[in-house]
Amino acid sequence: MRSILDLGDIDEPLLLFGGSYGNLEATEALLAQARQLGITGARMIHTGDVVAYCADPAATVALVRGTGMAVVQGNCEESLGAGSEDCGCGFAEGTVCDRLSAAWYEYCVRELPAEDRSWMAGLPARVEFRMNGAKVAVVHGAPSRINRFVFASDPLEDKRREFALAGSDVIVGGHSGLPFIQPVDGRLWVNAGAIGMPANDGTPRCWFALMRPQGDGVEVEIRALVYDHAGAAARMREAGLPREYEQALRTGFWDNMDILPPEERARRGRPIAWERLSWMPDSHRFATSEL
Ligand SMILES: [Fe+2]
Repeated sequence: MRSILDLGDIDEPLLLFGGSYGNLEATEALLAQARQLGITGARMIHTGDVVAYCADPAATVALVRGTGMAVVQGNCEESLGAGSEDCGCGFAEGTVCDRLSAAWYEYCVRELPAEDRSWMAGLPARVEFRMNGAKVAVVHGAPSRINRFVFASDPLEDKRREFALAGSDVIVGGHSGLPFIQPVDGRLWVNAGAIGMPANDGTPRCWFALMRPQGDGVEVEIRALVYDHAGAAARMREAGLPREYEQALRTGFWDNMDILPPEERARRGRPIAWERLSWMPDSHRFATSEL
């Protein structure tokens, strides 16, 4: 049985984010945002993949660990913690991502102290908490599988099955790199996005989520993170990491869309909007707002 960390009842604003991918500049900017919002490490949850594509895995792990935040085990932590030969991302064999992952994964293995890899091995598969009566499950990919890519356009039937497995009112995940908030039969699926890579929307912005009690329910907000992406890209070049991901940091476009369903492919280059959704568990009411 994989481990679950239960944080109990939380009735204060919470910052949810993931996919820091060894991007130190983005992680520093995210923590600066948290400080501005008055959110401490005890009110932050990382959805996993602390390290991956970018140049500073050890420093990023140190920064995340230093806050004391709860961290869900991502496929990168699972693989590095177990001493596996590859990242376990779930890329199809022979794709560009599959080929490039060999380079950054080997880099992470080389750069990370053994003690950090032991920490990764001990991370929980799921973090749970309750906010205003809503039961929230935070996972990496999906409750059924750590490296399942879940997108907004995926069939609702798939998401219903995941909710049945999780037994929660709200699921928060990451892994797929694209943020979204989606009602599913009166429950709520949130992808908090990634802070270490842009969302293929043609801007270098990255994304995180805020959750807070509101009325009888919760309010979830997807927010953009603006950070020193040029500095992060320069660090990748110095480290000799794949140019494809370095370019993605600069341009906001992914090198390829192998993992994306047709709807998400069609959204390439369309800037993502800030989004907020209120969810009331008793009435299953939703209210959305967009800037
Ligand atoms: Fe992942």
